[in-house]
Amino acid sequence: ITLNGRTFPRDDWTNLSPAITSALPRKLHLSPNHPISITRDLIESHFPPSLYTRTNTLDPIVTVKQNFDDLGFPLDHPGRSRTDTYYVNSSTVLRTHTSAHQFDSFKKNENEGFLIAADVYRRDAIDRSHYPAFHQMEGARTWDRRKFGSTGELVDTIYKEIETFAKVPGLEVDDTIPLYEETSNPMQVGVHSKEEVAAISAHLKRSCELFVADVFQRAKAAKAKQEGKKVQGTEPLKVRWIEAYFPFTAPSYELEVFWNDDWLEVLGSGVVKQEILNNAGHPDRVGWAFGVGLERIAMLLFNIPDIRLFWSEDHRFVSQFSKEKGVTRFKEFSRYPACYKDVAFWLPSTSTGAGGGWTWHENNLMELVRNIGGSLVEDVKLVDEFIHPKTGRKSCCYRINYRAWERTLTNEETNALHKEIEQRIAKELGVEIR
Ligand code: DAH
Repeated sequence: ITLNGRTFPRDDWTNLSPAITSALPRKLHLSPNHPISITRDLIESHFPPSLYTRTNTLDPIVTVKQNFDDLGFPLDHPGRSRTDTYYVNSSTVLRTHTSAHQFDSFKKNENEGFLIAADVYRRDAIDRSHYPAFHQMEGARTWDRRKFGSTGELVDTIYKEIETFAKVPGLEVDDTIPLYEETSNPMQVGVHSKEEVAAISAHLKRSCELFVADVFQRAKAAKAKQEGKKVQGTEPLKVRWIEAYFPFTAPSYELEVFWNDDWLEVLGSGVVKQEILNNAGHPDRVGWAFGVGLERIAMLLFNIPDIRLFWSEDHRFVSQFSKEKGVTRFKEFSRYPACYKDVAFWLPSTSTGAGGGWTWHENNLMELVRNIGGSLVEDVKLVDEFIHPKTGRKSCCYRINYRAWERTLTNEETNALHKEIEQRIAKELGVEIR
């Protein structure tokens, strides 16, 4: 297979499809007037370039080592399975996260910190907020212990820098979780002192709050402008930190924002596992990292109702946004009617979960539907399942919702698509259509 001008041998791990490889050249995060790129710009603007080197052109084709091994993912981690990840071959994947570049960036050690924005790929469900190609930004910052006379001096320097951060008016932060928790969210005992963990975590949290607050205040302002109202200066933006788990950080935290009456997870982060820095040749550096999904943020900044729209080349979408105008609310163009069709089938009696051969897994269904239906499929939902009382076989019924953004789909067209999907499901997923 030739991808991005490089040729790779296929093997039985290969699970790429045209639907996914066609996303590789798009580079939405570098397309200047695109909402994803505007969102990237906005986040970058909160990190001084002198301290944080930007790298936004890294190749999405990475090794299994870069994507998983270097970060300490255990061999049986579900993220490694072929049902969740796009494998070019057994040793090469489409990166599933920007963290795939952490280790190499630490190794290069160009600067105290870095920011990496990139397209990432995951086999996943089909709905309004999931698309198999999306974008993330990784951020990290480290300090060299050797530059300080003592831990106290290192910690003081970190707190002094935090004091220089802009104050964020109208932000209400709930940061009441413990710094670390012995069993559920441990610090790296014997590696970092408690004082270091506290200072590094504080720097991480305040750095993230800065850009998250700005992003959400802009979203609020754009919303108020569209509705012809004044931004209410009284109602603060609420964010909260919660405990998390990632194989490459300890302790780990997630930041959630209260938006449209719900807590929304916006980023994962934590104190970098020392082993990663040690293996990267920098045992004296300590620091933090975060990863943030750009679509998630762009959808609410620009009020974009469906993640597929980011990939639209329809001028009614593309022409609405520009770098000069900044954050503006998407004006929905006419939605053509949707049409759903169901497909029901018996699962093979020996279905296994992740990994293994091409046995039944929901993500394989999603991938197949996407390859045939492309962007004409809005979502796929499990609507019914039961176990036959006599045979013990399991039946599933999925509802496929068809809709195009540009036109009304004809009945014949939808029927033909659905028929093809049904036939290929029977042939390729080892299930029996009912
Ligand atoms: N890579 C993680 C993901 O895709 C996000 C993440 C979590 C990145 C913690 C980080 C981090 O750098 O420290 O879900």
